[in-house]
Amino acid sequence: MTVLVIGASGKTGRPVVNALVERGLPVRAASRNPVPRPHQAEPVRFNWTDRSTWQEALRDVEALYVVGPYMHPDQPGLIGDLLAVAPHARRVALLSILGVELLPEAIPMARWEEDVRASGKDWTILRPNWFQQNFGEGFASSLRDPGVLALAAADAEVGFVDTRDIAEVAAAALTEEGHADAVHVLTGPRALTHAQAVQILAEAAGRELRYAALTPDEHAAELRKAGLDERSITWQRALFQLIRDGHNAVVTDTVERITGHPARSLQTYAQEHAKAWQPLVPEKH
Ligand SMILES: NC(=O)c1ccc[n+]([C@@H]2O[C@H](COP(=O)([O-])OP(=O)(O)OC[C@H]3O[C@@H](n4cnc5c(N)ncnc54)[C@H](OP(=O)(O)O)[C@@H]3O)[C@@H](O)[C@H]2O)c1
Repeated sequence: MTVLVIGASGKTGRPVVNALVERGLPVRAASRNPVPRPHQAEPVRFNWTDRSTWQEALRDVEALYVVGPYMHPDQPGLIGDLLAVAPHARRVALLSILGVELLPEAIPMARWEEDVRASGKDWTILRPNWFQQNFGEGFASSLRDPGVLALAAADAEVGFVDTRDIAEVAAAALTEEGHADAVHVLTGPRALTHAQAVQILAEAAGRELRYAALTPDEHAAELRKAGLDERSITWQRALFQLIRDGHNAVVTDTVERITGHPARSLQTYAQEHAKAWQPLVPEKH
């Protein structure tokens, strides 16, 4: 059974490829710029907006992991279109987002979920909380220097989840019985404020790091300064509004129920990635 992993270079796609390879499955790792990977996955070119890449990527594929085209919200029907030309695919696992039902229409994940449900395939929808991996990737540069993570999350709690746990659940959904027509809400083992989360990173990194609460307008101005376009800023505003309203304080036992082990903690992730938050120029004491 060949499994196609869309978004294979990303925060969830990488561990999904690993989890499927560990299960001994032939895996096709899709990217706009495919590169040979250090393990058995077959790299394949795939671009949501270049349909000429779809056929080869989908050849003989019986299951798909889908990171949707969130970068192309003006084309919300792409997932439905893709599934319609994947006749051999029996199972699909879609990466959605916690709180999807509360997001404004401009954010297309609800439409993606509708398309997956209507596909006629055995579908599983994954709705994860915020990823722990954001701290070591997107947020890492400001944590390195100036050592401050400034966001509009107020002092609301978030059940940050490790993407390796999302990947294990995705691999189970794509290869085992019992996940058809299921929505899995995925979180870490406890809810933390951003101040508490940054303290955990600081302890692992052995240096002072700080969270600073911004107002939504201050946050938008910072994102604009960093070069984000207005659409992405609108999305970020909506996502942080959900956090401030308490919707991300959710903690579920889904990871443990499906994988058989407790969800990975932020402490574990922080210890493994402590180098990510070291300053580029050593600090003077
Ligand atoms: N980050 C979070 O905390 C979080 C939490 C819950 C849900 N989510 C959801 O997770 C999804 C991924 O978000 P992320 O920020 O974490 O990104 P990511 O998965 O780390 O990276 C984005 C992926 O999309 C691929 N991609 C970009 N443009 C593409 C295109 N035109 N065609 C095909 N593939 C394309 C990239 O692959 P190449 O560059 O190799 O082509 C990359 O693998 C989003 O839908 C987001 O809403 C994120």
